Amino acid sequence: TSAPVITIDGPSGTGKGTIAALLAERLGWHLLDSGALYRTLALAARRADVDLDDDAALGALAERIEVVPDGERVWLDGEDVSAPIRTAQAGADASRVAVHRSVRAALLDWQRAAARPPGLIADGRDMGSQVFPAAVLKVFLDASPEERAMRRYKQLKDKGLDANLPNLIQELRVRDARDRERSESPLQVPSGGVVVDSTELTIDEVLAQVVSLAQQAL
Ligand code: C5P
Repeated sequence: TSAPVITIDGPSGTGKGTIAALLAERLGWHLLDSGALYRTLALAARRADVDLDDDAALGALAERIEVVPDGERVWLDGEDVSAPIRTAQAGADASRVAVHRSVRAALLDWQRAAARPPGLIADGRDMGSQVFPAAVLKVFLDASPEERAMRRYKQLKDKGLDANLPNLIQELRVRDARDRERSESPLQVPSGGVVVDSTELTIDEVLAQVVSLAQQAL
């Protein structure tokens, strides 16, 4: 496609999703939350009793279901699954199904179809390295594990949910390790990527940096 793409990759808890949504709004571009697609496939697998470690069965399931990302919402066979895919379980399941080659291949088409004029902001783990290697700007958003766990903790508390910081740090370590060490599209700084470390920055400060990078790139 000819629509310009800006990718925002990085580990979970760095504020990628928030920054991607704000940048899309600022530029008037489309938004793709690729993690939501992995979460949706994981949810579909749980519901259909498909083994989360069965590469072939997951690939077949991905071909059979209709998943439509729509900004910050996702539709699974016509059902809005935006809420059920946000549980910690769906996140952990997503990171399990994401190691499979057949899954990543099936999701490639769904993701590339989102690149439409006037442009797309895509956030995930391999947006710059695998899905949109020709992106006009590739941001890699990072932050220390402690800071990321703390942000998640506050988010949950703000929603009135139960949260345990040591457990959150542990879950984040497991997910990080799986994302960085897998052989299929591991989480890494893409070639040509610009690292932005948000550990000491507010959302507004990160957004200002990313907007300025976008202005230089466009
Ligand atoms: O970003 P989010 O936490 O929603 O992603 C859930 C999981 O989906 C990640 O931990 C990762 O394993 C997987 N994922 C991926 N590639 C992407 C986006 C997400 O492997 N582009």
